[in-house]
Amino acid sequence: MSDFFSVEIVEQVGSTNDELKKCAREGAPEGLCITAIEQTAGKGRVGRVWESVAGNSLTTSCLLRPKDIPMNCIPTITLVCGMAVKKFLEREFGIISQIKWPNDIVVDGKKLCGILVEMEAISNEVNFIVSGIGLNIHQKDFSEEIAYKSTSIDLELKHMYPDESLDTIYEKCLSESCRAYFLSGISAASKLEYLSKKLWDSFKEYYDIFMKTCDMTYLREEYEDGLVNMNQSIKIEAGKDSYEAIARGINNRGALLVEVADSIQEIDSGEVSVRGIYGYV
Ligand code: BTN
Repeated sequence: MSDFFSVEIVEQVGSTNDELKKCAREGAPEGLCITAIEQTAGKGRVGRVWESVAGNSLTTSCLLRPKDIPMNCIPTITLVCGMAVKKFLEREFGIISQIKWPNDIVVDGKKLCGILVEMEAISNEVNFIVSGIGLNIHQKDFSEEIAYKSTSIDLELKHMYPDESLDTIYEKCLSESCRAYFLSGISAASKLEYLSKKLWDSFKEYYDIFMKTCDMTYLREEYEDGLVNMNQSIKIEAGKDSYEAIARGINNRGALLVEVADSIQEIDSGEVSVRGIYGYV
């Protein structure tokens, strides 16, 4: 693991983002990550709740204290995080995922991972950023409300090899180092620590590139390659309003470029949700 991050495993916490924000206010150093075995009050984007199951989900947050970064660059970190998760899933599990702008990670049209980046400022300057990732690992089912659009690593691996046992699939698909943590008898804490380290290391690779320009200049092409709705019709929901458009990629700030009535508009992530015309993707 790079020296940049240090992972602390906690047994139970309301929200890893909130816990880390508390530590940040008390002066915790950049690179501190908190991973919970059980998260009881997980927060999602736009005021939603994030469901997780003790030991079966990865719920982890990391603290960033970038120097001299303009505040309007912070929402873009959410896209950087998404790219890191996508790469991590491929390296560790052999799972090829896609990104639903700005940062949901989806496989076969269902959400595997969510990302919530939060920031606190002091007199109009960024004080710290907490970047939180929730990844579904072993869940076999989800609450009625989100079941239609949710998936987990186990469900996706099983989908790839329906006739094989999960242990055989782990042997086949997981990276050599990851495999050891998915054997029975290994504690949830060591598995989650391993996954957190690998995930935040992947994030660091993309974050370093992002920090060269504080935008998506060098990441844009790869991001667009992974964009699930690229050149497809989507529905943009902003509060009670919604309208249809065609997704055409992102700009360097990470705004979604959409074509509406022959003109290109830029959509900022703020309080907007993007859906497929007929469902979640
Ligand atoms: C979303 O898709 O709406 C974002 C979900 C983010 C969930 C993660 S889990 C770890 C961290 N702690 C939280 O309370 N939320 C994020």
